[in-house]
Amino acid sequence: MSIQAIFLGAPGSGKGTQAKNLVMDLNFNHVSTGDLLRAEVEKATDLGKRVSDIMSRGALVSDEIVLELLKNNCDLSNGAYIFDGFPRTIDQAKALDEVVLKDFPSKAIYFDISLDVLKERLVNRRTCGDCGAIYNLVYKSPKTDGKCDLCDGPLVDRKDDTEEAVGNRLNVFKETIDPILEYYEQKQRLIRVDAGLKPAEILEKVKVALE
Ligand code: AP5
Ligand code: MG
Repeated sequence: MSIQAIFLGAPGSGKGTQAKNLVMDLNFNHVSTGDLLRAEVEKATDLGKRVSDIMSRGALVSDEIVLELLKNNCDLSNGAYIFDGFPRTIDQAKALDEVVLKDFPSKAIYFDISLDVLKERLVNRRTCGDCGAIYNLVYKSPKTDGKCDLCDGPLVDRKDDTEEAVGNRLNVFKETIDPILEYYEQKQRLIRVDAGLKPAEILEKVKVALE
């Protein structure tokens, strides 16, 4: 049975970057609650309108909304998934085990990094508006300014990558992460990876962790 991967880590710790790498290298499915919520906001659905302000401020959306969205967007009979940005609360961690994973084996990878470097990563992030590829004006710039290397799509800022929202997101992270790490540690399912390394080095460590 394939192992399911739960990606935990601060905003900007590289969860999305490594999830996209693993999808390409090892055929994982990728489900990011942040991406799902942003798609709802983009489409201006009722749900999108309800969560738009919350996300722009950098606060957490309610457990009920994200759990429902997650359940509707993953089917474990399709193979191994990466759960990116879920869980964010202890109730979400329990719900992931009880309602989604059930008997499927899983490991939680914690992208461990000093929070001091994350503001710089986030305000310099650009994302392809068409394919979602992730860039960074300092660490991974596109070959042509403003254009995606992979599909030529336009590179855009995320609304919650402003200095103020990033500050709030990092505070929310600090206030919520400890019980989640303890939960997986107690179940002996937690693996810490140094997320301050180069992306290729991190990818190798994540692959080993999931073997
Ligand atoms: P979400 O979309 O999950 O955002 P996040 O957790 O804040 O994380 P990010 O996506 O900002 O960072 P990342 O770790 O993916 O980093 P990335 O790889 O892009 O959530 C957004 C919002 O949605 C939340 O604030 C909340 O409102 C809501 N939400 C989502 N899930 C929820 C849930 N479960 N419950 C409640 N609310 C929820 O990398 C960042 C940058 O760094 C990029 O520019 C990249 O190129 C660069 N980079 C990556 N790796 C490296 C490296 N090794 N070295 C140098 N630069 C690097
Ligand atoms: Mg992300």
